[in-house]
Amino acid sequence: MDRPVKRNGFAGGLGFILAAAGSAVGLGNLWSFPYKTSKNGGAAFVFVYIFSVIILGLIVMIAEIYLGKRAQANSITAYKKVNKNLGWLGLLSIVGPFMVLCYYTVLGGYTVKFAMNSFSDNSTIMQTFSGNTGEVVLYSALFMILSVLVVTGGVKNGIEKACKVLMPILFVIMVCIVVYCLFLGEGVSDGLKYYLAPDFSALGFDGILAAMSQAFFSLSVGMGIMISYGSYTGKNINVGKSAVWIAVFDTIVALLAGLAVFPTIFHYQAETGIQLQNNGIVLMFSSLPIVFKSLGPVGNIVSFFFFGMVSIAAVTSMISMLEVATQFFIQKFRIKRKKAIAIVGGVGFAFAVPIGISLGFALTGKEKMMLAGNNLLDVFDIIVTNVIIPICAIGACIALGWFTYKSNSAKEALSCRKLSSNLQEEGLKLGKVGLLFSFMLKYAAPILIGVIEVFGIIDIVFPSVSGTRTFSMNGLILVLIALVIMIVCAVIYFVFLKNKETGTNEDEVVIQEEAEKEEEEKEEAAVQE
Ligand code: PHE
Repeated sequence: MDRPVKRNGFAGGLGFILAAAGSAVGLGNLWSFPYKTSKNGGAAFVFVYIFSVIILGLIVMIAEIYLGKRAQANSITAYKKVNKNLGWLGLLSIVGPFMVLCYYTVLGGYTVKFAMNSFSDNSTIMQTFSGNTGEVVLYSALFMILSVLVVTGGVKNGIEKACKVLMPILFVIMVCIVVYCLFLGEGVSDGLKYYLAPDFSALGFDGILAAMSQAFFSLSVGMGIMISYGSYTGKNINVGKSAVWIAVFDTIVALLAGLAVFPTIFHYQAETGIQLQNNGIVLMFSSLPIVFKSLGPVGNIVSFFFFGMVSIAAVTSMISMLEVATQFFIQKFRIKRKKAIAIVGGVGFAFAVPIGISLGFALTGKEKMMLAGNNLLDVFDIIVTNVIIPICAIGACIALGWFTYKSNSAKEALSCRKLSSNLQEEGLKLGKVGLLFSFMLKYAAPILIGVIEVFGIIDIVFPSVSGTRTFSMNGLILVLIALVIMIVCAVIYFVFLKNKETGTNEDEVVIQEEAEKEEEEKEEAAVQE
């Protein structure tokens, strides 16, 4: 039974933690967390965010890693093993990260461009670069190829090895940059105030939804990632402890990112007169480069390390998104890893191109290639983070909390104690918090996520514009698109996948061995000739 783990899984617990943390730490931490925090009430947002990480994100993460670990298979098979009618959630958990991958490719391309351009002038290129389709496509391709190459190596020799090297580098650069920024002197405390001053009135329901979905997105939960990575772990890993490490690491990096960005901008505000343009992409790709420029030659180096660090974080996230669909394709269609990753990467890239162009239009002030009033990147992002991720997160809780173990009576089915002892017996050792975990998993987490989700959707369809709620047709369209995606997943699953083999990690080992044998034979034949 341990064969798949030995052959193609993570070599060790640390490798798994670093790979999962690599997936979690990404643009969500370095780019969107700081600006969302300062926009949604500073420390008030951080408070809700940390709350969401601990009581929701962590529960979902443990559930997902465990679902993967016990199934030793891709997420469709994992859900199927729990209950055949839940398999569509597995497909949705593959589609979600695939959609993220499509726009992550573009943003990843931006980070690579800015890293490589650090020794020229980055401060004025944002507009020209984003409007230059050829260049955007080129850098997106570069970023995609880098990530594809890692995944081609497999879990142990590709993903794990890369993360073991890259994650420590990332952390060291991060700490150096933060220390540097915090000791800039004047303006630092104003920056910190701007970033963290608690303002609970700025935190509406949309802020709470933003905090929750940001927590899920940042932790890479609700997306099949943890199921997939979890499936490549063996008996030796402790799911609970690993999840805590991953979450702590992810949260620290997010908080540190804000500590670097805002004090720096405030410090240089006086000198450079830059306006704090605090809306997402502009903050990182426009404001920061102006600061780096004002530092002179030192700034070039800081810029190189900063964007290098962001690129590393983006690559280690990107590979996890690629892996989820790749794993499924290998196992379901019994194709080689190389072929599977070529398909996933190729199709993802085909979507990335129009997304990149649409973003370019938005950033250069043209209203072209929009859907429901948004550029395509935002469309994908809104749909995944606000609808698909929370649904999959609820799905993971319900699958493990309600469907995994048979119960003999209604009383037993409702009992948290029973669930806790079942989990314990089966090997999910959570010690003293087992009972609490069971309660959260069965009741609190799905209900809370559900409530926040419902209000969140109301907020999308009836946004409040200066105090009054008005109907938004664009909001409705986005929600409907999300609904259609879910229905399509369900239909595909029930028609084509429910009663067919969908493969396991063990199948993947066989396929890999066959591929290796074939290659050896080819080599031998070549030698003989
Ligand atoms: N967690 C990653 C981040 O913070 C993003 C991500 C999304 C990773 C989806 C995997 C899957 O940027």
